[in-house]
Parts: sequence; structure tokens; C-alpha cells
Amino acid sequence: VSDPAEGIRNVATRSTLPSRLHHVGVQAYDLAGSLAWYREFFGGEPNWTLETFSELTRSRLPGIRRLTELVLGDFRIHLFERAGATLSQDADPVQFQHLCFAVGSPGELRDRRAHWIELFASGRHRFARPDPPTEIVVDDHGVQSFYCYDVNGLEFEFSYLPEEAP
Ligand SMILES: [Fe+2]
Repeated sequence: VSDPAEGIRNVATRSTLPSRLHHVGVQAYDLAGSLAWYREFFGGEPNWTLETFSELTRSRLPGIRRLTELVLGDFRIHLFERAGATLSQDADPVQFQHLCFAVGSPGELRDRRAHWIELFASGRHRFARPDPPTEIVVDDHGVQSFYCYDVNGLEFEFSYLPEEAP
């Protein structure tokens, strides 16, 4: 005799677990400038650029004029630019609060943070926010993290999770 709750649990599992994260969309105040910073900070290669958009995209993102996909391993960042968007913090739209990338070792975490500081100091990029990265914090489970902003003011977290390390 099958347990009816089992079927319900399976359905719930299938419908609530997302498949892998494919890309994140980032609104850039200056697409060329953002692309330069993302390539210097994350590495990766631009894959394609779009300059014509569907009616749906144009209605979701009025003024969109260019979108470039940057490939980071099996993840992608879709950087796009909209007419009239300016470098300011006065808007307060609902958005993802931060996005976290896991790194493979504490050393890599320190290197990533140092790289952010070095890029900021280079003066090659214009940042919406002047805030430096946070210190690296360690929680009770040994997870180490720091937070930093991209050139547009979006927050990223980098974490070293010992239990998930290879
Ligand atoms: Fe987080």
C-alpha cells in the first residue's frame, strides 16, 4: 500500500527545487565600464551582445539598449544598459539584496578581497559607492565571508564553506 503523503512530498520536491542557477541580470549605469570591471574582477569572457529586444523585454525594461553576456565558468552575468539610467542611489526598487559566490579556500577568499581593493585603487573604474569590502568574518560553523559592491552598487558576497570544499 503506498503512502499518499509520499506522492505529495515527491510532487512538492519536484516543484519547489529549482534547476541550476543560469545567470543573473545586472543593470549597469555604463555597460562598457561595468563590463570592464566585471572582466577585471571576475575574469570571464563576453559571449554575445544584443541590441534589439523583444516586446516583452522592452516592456519589462523600458529604454534597454544593449545587453552583453559575460561567461564565468558555468555561470553567466547579463549586463545591460538602459537609456536614462544614472549613477545614483536615490531609487529604491525591490531587488536581490546580494548574490554569493563560493570560493575553494580561505586563501582564495583573501585574494579575491585584495583584488577588489587593488581594482578600486587603480582608479580605472567609476564606482557608485565608495564603500570598501567588509572584513572577512567567520561564523560558528567556520564559514568565512566578506561582502563588496560592484561598480553599480550591487552587493556580492564571497564565502568559503569548509564543508563544501573539495
Ligand atoms: Fe549571504
